[in-house]
Amino acid sequence: MFNRHTWLATKKKECYGQGIMQKNNIMVTGGAGFIGANFILKCLNERPHWNIVNLDALTYAGNPGNFLELAPDLAARHSLVHGNICDARLLDSLFTRTPFDAVIHFAAETHVDRSIGDPLGFAATNVMGACTLLEAVKKYWERRGCHEDFRFIHVSTDEVFGSLGSEGLFSESSPYDPSSPYSASKAASDHFVRAYFRTYGLPCIVSNCSNNYGPYQFPEKLIPLLILRIMEEKPLPIYGDGQNVRDWLYVADHCQALLNILDKGSPGQTYTIGGGQELSNLEVVTALCDLMDSRLNRTRARASKRLITLVKDRPGHDRRYAMDASKIRNELGWTPAHSFAQGLEATVDWYLSHQVWVDQVRSGEYHKWEKVHYKS
Ligand code: NAD
Ligand code: TYD
Repeated sequence: MFNRHTWLATKKKECYGQGIMQKNNIMVTGGAGFIGANFILKCLNERPHWNIVNLDALTYAGNPGNFLELAPDLAARHSLVHGNICDARLLDSLFTRTPFDAVIHFAAETHVDRSIGDPLGFAATNVMGACTLLEAVKKYWERRGCHEDFRFIHVSTDEVFGSLGSEGLFSESSPYDPSSPYSASKAASDHFVRAYFRTYGLPCIVSNCSNNYGPYQFPEKLIPLLILRIMEEKPLPIYGDGQNVRDWLYVADHCQALLNILDKGSPGQTYTIGGGQELSNLEVVTALCDLMDSRLNRTRARASKRLITLVKDRPGHDRRYAMDASKIRNELGWTPAHSFAQGLEATVDWYLSHQVWVDQVRSGEYHKWEKVHYKS
């Protein structure tokens, strides 16, 4: 006779045996943005039993058009809810309607330059929004008997650790030392997530990742900004002396790291994630100019490098970020699959072959930001 209890126990054992937890209903916050959309598209393809509720406020950075190419059978397992993580009533109604097995929290204001002009807006979403979400999740989790398999994954950044000198790497034990209103607000949210684990036992995990690049990134961030401006032959603004260093990671590799964390990570843990591909901003812009020129068949006389322009530095500009990802490599078996050269080619080819997406993004908020921030 079929015994549901025994079946569930066996299933759980099988899943744990493979280091994979059974999950079906996933809430993703901020899934219409860059990393969230890449994560959802990957999961709909690779996790055929998942139903994903994507809660997104659709700010300038959120784009429902990121899901237009989804095949109907995959689209049927994704629902986009237009709403704000600061809205406690909406959160309660979502958690009443669906028995979520995990929440992957991406929603945030994310651009350092914008945070300098709007620190309170960043605090509202990144701190109060995260706390409102944590509170709703805690209530839901307690109602469901504090299920040990539930997960809250908080997607955070290496910027919470501040700036490195020319030596060393950030790791899980690095002290917090944020420089910008953006990184300060992310740091605060990381602390709240850990407090919910320590105080209430909510099964939370924090990830701190380095700079991502890839398809669907809003062109205010360095790499897509440069791609669009190279297309248009506009000046390529590089802050300060161009020697600030970032540890670049292709977005698909970050999404895979998050899946490993969800499947095999332990509650209360932190994982630092990075590609080990340190480059100065001048190295990035030079590589992009060469690649774009070869894709666009530009002659030497039109070489894009002529457009590189050193401009006034960003206030509080962190000099160098670099990550030690050995914990996630050793404990969760994650390793990045893309070198910077491979990731950059995939990214450039994506932007060149998605002109409709580019035109749509360019016509809206991007255009306004470019005019105000770059005056061209
Ligand atoms: P993004 O700016 O592209 O997307 C953010 C998304 O959040 C957008 O869809 C936006 O509409 C949504 N959002 C903003 N405020 C909201 C609110 N109040 N309620 C609901 N939705 C809201 O950001 P991203 O680059 O995809 O980053 C996602 C997460 O990853 C962020 O938490 C960020 O701190 C973290 N992160 C980013 C990077 C990176 O290099 N981009 C690196 C490490 C960590
Ligand atoms: P960005 O993509 O904004 O990411 P973050 O500030 O989170 O690292 O910037 C990456 C690097 O590129 C950073 O050192 C700032 C620099 N940068 C420029 O030099 N010019 C620009 O126009 C932008 C947007 C960034």
